[in-house]
Amino acid sequence: MKINIAIDGPSASGKSTIAKALAKRLNYTHIDTGSMYRACAYLALKHELKPDDIELVDLVNKSDFGFNESGHILLNGKDIDAKIRSKHVDLLTSTIAQNQAIRSTLVDMQQQLANSKGFILDGRDIGSVVLKDAELKVFQTASIESRAKRRLAEYQTKGIDVNYQTIYDEIKLRDLQDRSREHSPLIQTKDAKVLDTSDLTIEQSVDRVYTWAMELIKERRDTND
Ligand code: C5P
Repeated sequence: MKINIAIDGPSASGKSTIAKALAKRLNYTHIDTGSMYRACAYLALKHELKPDDIELVDLVNKSDFGFNESGHILLNGKDIDAKIRSKHVDLLTSTIAQNQAIRSTLVDMQQQLANSKGFILDGRDIGSVVLKDAELKVFQTASIESRAKRRLAEYQTKGIDVNYQTIYDEIKLRDLQDRSREHSPLIQTKDAKVLDTSDLTIEQSVDRVYTWAMELIKERRDTND
């Protein structure tokens, strides 16, 4: 038997990394919903539109969003993954994510994509809006310091020149925007299990969520027997 897993949490807490590894281990499908919001920012930049332009909403509605086998986002069939992971796109995405018309379109698409069991979605509103009835809800967090250090290391491997303080300040600003926005703010739902990854390795984090998932699956199997 399969379940659905919702992983929410603040920026750079490693949700997608954990979700991807977990999906591989459970043989589930992972959907990184943040990349769909990032694709909207990409559209805005490409067409020189502002976050609240009605044309942007039209464009999002007309666009086709999908994922390839590597989990890369496909916008109208084109892999744009490499283009949506920059500091510039980070902040613009968090502003665009405040637009309720865009949120509603993306939530519909996400619900259609994950219309059965065996899905792991990560984002900000998965447990509270997109998959309210997910069997396992995880709220993944980490201190701003550890998130900024990880992000810095990521940029350094990509050869991007940026300093720790800039990253720290940007993460703090995105946290504030995501937690205080009017529509679907980032919240920890009452039924979510908290995973603080500040002092955990990726493997330890995946192990913990895997154990939670297997306990739930066993419980449900036993009740059905
Ligand atoms: O997860 P990631 O950092 O890639 O998400 C980029 C931005 O997209 C977030 O800062 C947030 O503003 C927005 N987002 C959202 N709801 C989601 C996923 C992402 O508002 N489900």
